[in-house]
Amino acid sequence: MTKPVPWIFLLALSTFACSASTSSRVSTINGLKGDATAGKSVYTSNCASCHGSDAKSGSARESLPSKSASTAYAQIIDGKGSMPSFDNLSDQDIANVWAYVQSLK
Ligand code: HEC
Repeated sequence: MTKPVPWIFLLALSTFACSASTSSRVSTINGLKGDATAGKSVYTSNCASCHGSDAKSGSARESLPSKSASTAYAQIIDGKGSMPSFDNLSDQDIANVWAYVQSLK
């Protein structure tokens, strides 16, 4: 009876740790100034294949420029549905890619 408890505890702990680190990254990125020029190459190599070169078409069928920055940052870090996680991008890369997406509004 005692064995399952630590696993459930660890699972809960790791789930909490994961979302806590996402929200702290989101607030860090919110404080950065994005550089749209630098973000263009991040966008072209990581995002354009699904979101199109205009960030409004493509197979994902989402109009990215209209999304809120915090929602977008969390989604880029964690992924959602068929969108993979891009947690390998640096905080500055994410701020830059979002500045580029906003320039396509
Ligand atoms: C493999 C395809 C794919 C790639 C690559 C991809 N996305 Fe997505 N993205 C999707 C799909 C599919 C959705 C819709 C997900 C859903 O709501 O289920 C989405 C949704 C989004 C949203 C909308 C979030 C919301 O829920 O309002 C944002 C913002 C976004 N993507 C940004 C990016 C950025 C920035 C990149 C590059 C770093 C990227 N995506 C790369 C497939 C992709």
